[in-house]
Amino acid sequence: MTAAPSLLRRHGGGVSLVIDPRGAGRVLYWGPALPAITDGLWNAEPPATPDPGGAAPLVPLTGWGYGGLPALSGRWAGGGWAPRLAVTAVSGEGQALSLTLADPGGALSVVLDWELDADTGVLTGTAAVTNHGAEPYRLDGCAALCLPLPGWVDEALTFEGGYIREFQEHRQPIGPGALVRENRRGRTSHDSFPALVAGEAGFGAVHGSLFAVHLGWSGNHRLTLETLAAGTRVLMAGELLLPGEVVLAPGETYRTPPAYAVAADGGLNGLMARTHAHVRRRILPRVPLPERPVHLNTWEAVYHAHDPQGLGDLARAAAAVGVERFVLDDGWFHGRVNERHGLGDWWPDPSKHPGGLAPLAEAVRALGMRFALWVEPETVNPGSTLHTDHPDWLLRLPGDPDGRRQYVLDLGREAVADHLFARIDALLRSAPVDMLKWDMNRDLAGTGWQGEPAVRRQVAGVYRLIDRLRATHPHLEIESCASGGGRADWGILARCERIWVSDSMDAHDRLSMQRGFTLFFPPEVMGAHVGRGQSAVTGRRLELDFRCAVALFGHMGVEWDLRGINAEERDRLAAWIALHKRHRALLHGGRWVRLPLDDRAVTGHGVVAGDGGSALYLVAQQVTRPGIVTVRLPGLAPGAVYRVTVPEPSPCPLPWGRAGLRFTGAHLAAAGLRLPLGTPDEAVVLHLERCGGETS
Ligand code: GLA
Repeated sequence: MTAAPSLLRRHGGGVSLVIDPRGAGRVLYWGPALPAITDGLWNAEPPATPDPGGAAPLVPLTGWGYGGLPALSGRWAGGGWAPRLAVTAVSGEGQALSLTLADPGGALSVVLDWELDADTGVLTGTAAVTNHGAEPYRLDGCAALCLPLPGWVDEALTFEGGYIREFQEHRQPIGPGALVRENRRGRTSHDSFPALVAGEAGFGAVHGSLFAVHLGWSGNHRLTLETLAAGTRVLMAGELLLPGEVVLAPGETYRTPPAYAVAADGGLNGLMARTHAHVRRRILPRVPLPERPVHLNTWEAVYHAHDPQGLGDLARAAAAVGVERFVLDDGWFHGRVNERHGLGDWWPDPSKHPGGLAPLAEAVRALGMRFALWVEPETVNPGSTLHTDHPDWLLRLPGDPDGRRQYVLDLGREAVADHLFARIDALLRSAPVDMLKWDMNRDLAGTGWQGEPAVRRQVAGVYRLIDRLRATHPHLEIESCASGGGRADWGILARCERIWVSDSMDAHDRLSMQRGFTLFFPPEVMGAHVGRGQSAVTGRRLELDFRCAVALFGHMGVEWDLRGINAEERDRLAAWIALHKRHRALLHGGRWVRLPLDDRAVTGHGVVAGDGGSALYLVAQQVTRPGIVTVRLPGLAPGAVYRVTVPEPSPCPLPWGRAGLRFTGAHLAAAGLRLPLGTPDEAVVLHLERCGGETS
């Protein structure tokens, strides 16, 4: 037995991290908290020197003879591409840990800054690469975090989908070679949400040990999970750099966006307990969170057809059902007759809003609601005043296609950023606007600056502009939208309160989107609207109760022309909104759980109060299935006795009626409830209130 090396350890939030800093450095352990560091931990590992066939060093590099995917790649202009980084310095107090790795020749260094959150156990990591050489260094990529996973991790969950079908989960077994998820769209993307979950085979809602990583960045990304020849597994996440996008001049540094790594027991519910807590405590810009008002969004109600009388009527109809914030979507600004015109000219169109926005905003406020506004600052339509005055402000390479007939403005240029800031700032001062819906309806594919790719520069510019606006208007809230859910990640979430999940409000499809979305986002940031009876996007017809039940569990809103609905629909919608408001503190602050349902015809989730005293669950049937479904309800205090009721106005399929029976939490988790759900696209909401028993 060799002498115990001096190991670096961090513990927090039920997670342990142990690093052997010798040589190239190595993570010896990352996972559920270890009661003690024993000899076995380090003795079973080869010394932390580069091992061509074995475990990955802290920064896996081809220069070490490492055969897997490197965490860092690049090349000096004068030659040289295979540095051998070894740990030269360690620092960091409390939960933080900073490791400096340098090449023996001294030409390159990488500083890894890690922090293991004491409450949530989430590990945040960034890497900073500095070129100390005499020649420029073209950086092709650098992972923000690189972590080993145990060999029993056998199954991966990644995300797929697309426009109007965001956040779809995809399961696959982990085999030899690498599982790679990349995004080159310049926005976070609709089809490749930047997260990867891996766990023991068959992990589910309530069982399985898991590991996950998410990149907090609204541009391009690269996530990999590789099985090395020796069987070791390596998880990496970082920004995807386009060719030539980062060239470090001598002395320059590149810092990766942050990656967040989560180790969890108890299946996906265990994972969400950590990700949601982390978003609430560490990511969201405003803590404590403001109460989230129920929205009315004008888009699917009036599209571009704005007229003061019509909007006034819509606002009155919204207030009558209990809406608390009126969001004036696309269509209000100069020259915006359709999606091909107007972007860039951020002042009210005099033919639609003759006195500016203030009269409408004041009317909305007089009805007891707040007022919010849609903007899309990053793009411009050809023919707009902005484009005519500044045709050179575009981020555009020759031949770049004009997606949705709009171009991208170069936010890396100070003059452009200053102009946009001044315009939006003036808007915010012209009327009582308390939230911006910040849209971005174009990929950055093919855009560039001076012949070079410029995604990174653009994302940094967007972040700077939003940060500046927020600093100037401290009470401003922002909703992130990019043709629906194309910009959802913890990078943008650090600067906004809400995310528009998808342009499809089809409640049937929304269930699977919300399922995937909530793995990394708590329900209160999930924009969830009740749309019209026949979906404007999919054409599917769904009952009002079903549409409302699905929207109830997020940041609820309505996106429907309420001027045309009948009294019965109005009263029912108002009753659902009242239900949401009654339980808003629970819905937006409780512990989100997914129901362990093997039957793919049925899906469901719930929110349990932090003290286990109450809960709301949704059980939804999606396709036809015969008979009764047994639904186990996780997350409750096992020894507590709960009264299970079906609140108005949810339909009530319980044979014993709405009033409810009493069950213990243990019974509901193990044996469950038997529900006679019948037809597809039918849902029931269950309310549970503790009425006795023990609190844990
Ligand atoms: C995008 C958004 C929609 C709406 C339209 C307006 O598609 O996702 O919610 O705001 O733009 O053009």
